[in-house]
Amino acid sequence: MNKLLIILFTALGLYGAEGYSVYQKHCMQCHVEIMEKKEVMRVLHTLKAPPMVEVSNRLKENIVISDDDDDVKRRVIIAFIKDYIENPSVQYSMCHPMAIEKFGIMPSLKGKLSEEERQAVAEWVHDRYSGVAFK
Ligand code: HEC
Repeated sequence: MNKLLIILFTALGLYGAEGYSVYQKHCMQCHVEIMEKKEVMRVLHTLKAPPMVEVSNRLKENIVISDDDDDVKRRVIIAFIKDYIENPSVQYSMCHPMAIEKFGIMPSLKGKLSEEERQAVAEWVHDRYSGVAFK
């Protein structure tokens, strides 16, 4: 997508909507959008992956930026998510070791999403849960 379109979509609030539809198409079958911790424990056997609210919160907790600039931190998290979609690995996963044992490592979605779709969904994963704690 070119910059002008991004600006236009952002202005119209469509960019977030696009991220959400990418999530619905490519992530939702494994990552439920939102769930409380105690509900996760209860239905753990039915889940294929940690809920996205947990993923988003964990990345925000674990990725520490030394100059504590929120905008830089947001970009780093988005870059991490974009990369993880194509290159998931034990080495990079910030998932709890017990969760990895239960779920296994995420399969790579390489080739399934365009660069724009990865960007949109990564932004959505970050922004959707601003101020939404996993508790
Ligand atoms: C086939 C199931 C499946 C699909 C589809 C899937 N994931 Fe995952 N994902 C997992 C599992 C399992 C984990 C936990 C293990 C791990 O960290 O690799 C995970 C973990 C993650 C993590 C956390 C990495 C970390 O370090 O904590 C991110 C980010 C993520 N997924 C993003 C996405 C996005 C974005 C999509 C859609 C574009 C997606 N996933 C689609 C199964 C899936």
